[in-house]
Amino acid sequence: MIRAIFNRKGGVGKSTICCNLAAVAATRGKKTVVIDLDPQSNSSSYLGHDGEDDVVGTAEFFESTIDYSFRDFKPDDYVRKTAFENLFVITASRGLIDLESKLASRHKIYKLKEFVQKLTDIYDEIYIDTPAIMNFYSLSALIACKRCLIPFDCDVFSRDALYELLNNIQEVKEDHNRDLELEGIVINQFSAKARLPGEAVDELIKEQLPILKPYISSSVKIRESHRAEKPMVFMLPRHKVSQEFTDLYRNLNTSESEFLSENNQDVEAVV
Ligand SMILES: Nc1ncnc2c1ncn2[C@@H]1O[C@H](COP(=O)(O)OP(=O)(O)OP(=O)(O)O)[C@@H](O)[C@H]1O
Ligand SMILES: [Mg+2]
Repeated sequence: MIRAIFNRKGGVGKSTICCNLAAVAATRGKKTVVIDLDPQSNSSSYLGHDGEDDVVGTAEFFESTIDYSFRDFKPDDYVRKTAFENLFVITASRGLIDLESKLASRHKIYKLKEFVQKLTDIYDEIYIDTPAIMNFYSLSALIACKRCLIPFDCDVFSRDALYELLNNIQEVKEDHNRDLELEGIVINQFSAKARLPGEAVDELIKEQLPILKPYISSSVKIRESHRAEKPMVFMLPRHKVSQEFTDLYRNLNTSESEFLSENNQDVEAVV
């Protein structure tokens, strides 16, 4: 399973959702890796790898496609452990910025897909965090993934941008990646008490956009979890937001047989 989290708008929760869904997968015994493609490295630091200059990560992987100094590296050599069982990360760094134009001009847009395909031999689930811009890296992610999630922060002004984004994704699907499936829009920072977010989401539902459930509530604990470099699911597993991430993960994977049987077990337990 290869899932990218993308929105051209900044600060909508891409890294938060990416790391927490990956964390849920890891707690369920899935060997999971997060690939950080954003030079801000927020997912890398959320998973405990902050400002490490001496490690190889996504920048070095892309560099290896134009400079053969990393030619002996195997895909797993780019992967770092985290403090959490089953959860791994390929960290981002500022080096991505300098490389981007070189990679684009040399048409390296399919290299991430090849790399990710090799990682599927080792990892059950792969999550790709993207920068808040449609650039070489986000396009590479949309080409490499099978499924795409779009976080939406209930801002009425983001609605038009959302349609443009859906268009972009459709275009990538037609031009580069027939397997690409838009899984849906994750409503983030939802506050049931405020009127406007509810109205914004209702509009999207009326327009038949694929809105996923549950919505992720707004909580100050999320910022704390970033500071603690511990996804919510690990920091406060019983918190409402952690439960929402777990339920979202389950809903995204309902077609998988393990969840069908798990649901059956639940039913039996209730009976
Ligand atoms: N549900 C939430 N409740 C409260 N704060 C949140 C929530 N989701 C995200 N945040 C906070 O909002 C900020 C942006 O979140 P995040 O970094 O995940 O967004 P992003 O889309 O990855 O941003 P960027 O575009 O900069 O990469 C972070 O400080 C995070 O702690
Ligand atoms: Mg981010």
